[in-house]
Amino acid sequence: MLANTDTRYGLIARLFHWVIALLILTDLALGLIGENIPRTAETVESLKILYSVHKTIGVSVLFLAILRILWALTQTRPVPVHPERRAETLLAEIIHWALYGAIIVMPLSGWVIHSAESGFAPILWPFGQNLPFVVKSEALAHTAGAVHGLSALVIYLSVGLHIAGALKHAVIERDGVLARMIKGRDAGTSGQKATTPHAVPPLAALVLWAGVIGFAVFGPTPPMPEAEAAQMPTTAPVAAAAGPASDLPVWTVQDGSLGITVTQMGAGVEGSFANWSAAIAYDPDTGTGDVSVAIDTTSLTLGSVTTQAQGPEFFDTATYASATFTGPISRMGDGPDHKVVGTLSLVGQTAPVTLEFALNLVDDTATMSGQAVMDRRDFGMGAAYADESTVGYSVTVDVSLTATRAP
Ligand code: HEM
Ligand code: HEM
Repeated sequence: MLANTDTRYGLIARLFHWVIALLILTDLALGLIGENIPRTAETVESLKILYSVHKTIGVSVLFLAILRILWALTQTRPVPVHPERRAETLLAEIIHWALYGAIIVMPLSGWVIHSAESGFAPILWPFGQNLPFVVKSEALAHTAGAVHGLSALVIYLSVGLHIAGALKHAVIERDGVLARMIKGRDAGTSGQKATTPHAVPPLAALVLWAGVIGFAVFGPTPPMPEAEAAQMPTTAPVAAAAGPASDLPVWTVQDGSLGITVTQMGAGVEGSFANWSAAIAYDPDTGTGDVSVAIDTTSLTLGSVTTQAQGPEFFDTATYASATFTGPISRMGDGPDHKVVGTLSLVGQTAPVTLEFALNLVDDTATMSGQAVMDRRDFGMGAAYADESTVGYSVTVDVSLTATRAP
């Protein structure tokens, strides 16, 4: 009863079929609903729950799918009920194999999206937030998203045809095909074989999935939304920061990074500005100087929440495309430690921010790295997130750069 015979599905095959069918249909619905809800302060909590459930169900499908395939490999496949209808039998078999592919490709591509992006809804299993060999990369998450989205279209089509076929057998032909999967009744004639070679349906499904993945990865994938594309380093420099008006030696930035870390749902999400410039005057003898930094806020990327970070509730880059930080540099003690007690202008607000950094000077090359902590409320950012449960108040800014002394 547990195992298949050549005219009947055993209990285990039927359990796998219906449990996975239910989970897949639920996840398709959750995925579709999630896609159609805009991400705003009002919806973020519900979306987090929705996606956490979606991902947890999806990962469960992957494990069940592996078990199901291993089980199926040990089993006889029941004979086709109408082997004389060659085209129909072939199509049904190809769809079965395509569905086997779907229950692997769909959750795996979702899991790659999840591992490649940082932040947002966690998987509710006590393991598996990250996958081996999958690095945090917005571009990889985008490609996996393209595979996930295109695979969803293949599933709509194949599940649609599969269900339509099952209903045709149950309602029009009343031939026991559906009862064979629901109740485990016998249908078909023992010993009767399909007229097409066995290898054709699995091979056709393999070609289909290879095509889908190939097209999503190498084909003309839709461009990233503007905000996400901004993470790609821009070559156009941000309007040069106004140089400090002093006689101190001037330093030219050669290389550097400007990162931020915010806390979302209790976990740190790291991001960076790809486009910024700094004008630095500094006298190593006195340890004093001035700095002025101009930041292109549209070049911000922040894990999987770049669009929200750039949106009107936070950086509002459509209105305020730049931010500035200016202030005097002073040395603390005799060591490498310095600070800038500066002013940060962001989203039309100005507030004091102190940057502390360590400076290492070798001949005419200066290397610095430091950190500033700001409070988003000082700039009226994320006012709709009144407490810290979704978005933390403090934002850490990490700066590191190498500059050379101008002759
Ligand atoms: C049974 C397996 C799964 C099915 C049937 C499924 C289905 C879907 C569907 C239909 C969408 C909307 C896609 C679109 O219209 O572009 C979606 C989106 C999404 N799914 Fe899944 N999914 C599955 C598993 C997973 C898993 C395991 C994860 C993560 C661990 C995941 C993460 C996501 C994410 C992050 C999105 C949003 C994609 C984006 O905005 O780019 N999914 N899924
Ligand atoms: C309400 C939805 C569904 C119905 C009514 C249904 C019905 C059926 C029936 C009647 C069969 C047996 C066909 C035969 O004996 O030739 C079958 C087989 C199969 N179905 Fe579904 N199905 C549904 C959903 C799904 C979904 C969502 C999947 C996706 C994974 C799926 C995957 C399969 C596979 C792979 C087989 C081949 C049998 C096996 O190896 O387990 N089905 N289905």
